[in-house]
Amino acid sequence: MAADLGFDHVFRAPAAAHAPTLLLLHGTGGNEHDLVPLADTLAPGAGVLSPRGKVLERGMPRFFRRLSEGVFDLEDLRVRTRELTAFVAAAASHYGLDPAAIVALGFSNGANIAASTLLLEPGTLAGAILFRAMVPIVPDPLPALSGTSVFMSNGRTDSLIPAAEAERLTMLLRQAGAIVHVEWQPGGHQLTRQDLAQAQKWWLERWSA
Ligand code: MLT
Repeated sequence: MAADLGFDHVFRAPAAAHAPTLLLLHGTGGNEHDLVPLADTLAPGAGVLSPRGKVLERGMPRFFRRLSEGVFDLEDLRVRTRELTAFVAAAASHYGLDPAAIVALGFSNGANIAASTLLLEPGTLAGAILFRAMVPIVPDPLPALSGTSVFMSNGRTDSLIPAAEAERLTMLLRQAGAIVHVEWQPGGHQLTRQDLAQAQKWWLERWSA
């Protein structure tokens, strides 16, 4: 059983001491097990740290509250982003992870809190894979994200995440100094094989030893 670090979570140690760990952040209604098979395919040998979101929306776990679809409770988002950051720090210390080698992999609501963590808590994540993300919050001033590598994959016909929102997030992250690689899928919100193949290529080029 995983240690009590504030979130129910799955943990698997990286294959080598300084190998990266993927912080897996599921979508609305998901859980800590959802993205583990994806991490196995994408980044074999990486550690896995996968919390379950603590906010419930009609029984569905999420990582922060929203007022309606695409309209976020920004106060809650700030609190939950801090809480997730504290969990990552506690897990790194408890499990002996390299805190400079933690990369988020988030889908939808999970991608949005990953983006919020990049923007509000710089230094927590070395990078991020954002599947179907939008702008969660615009901090003023922007953080310094130079050296942070981000992969974004968006759906052209995504009914939940308008293309302009995904583009706005890319611009915001680049303005903050992050290196952002963007892929567009012909489909909607659901992940496809092409999302995974492109994310895997990005991962192999940057993170595998
Ligand atoms: C969110 O609430 O984070 C986005 O609308 C995506 C989702 O539906 O989870």
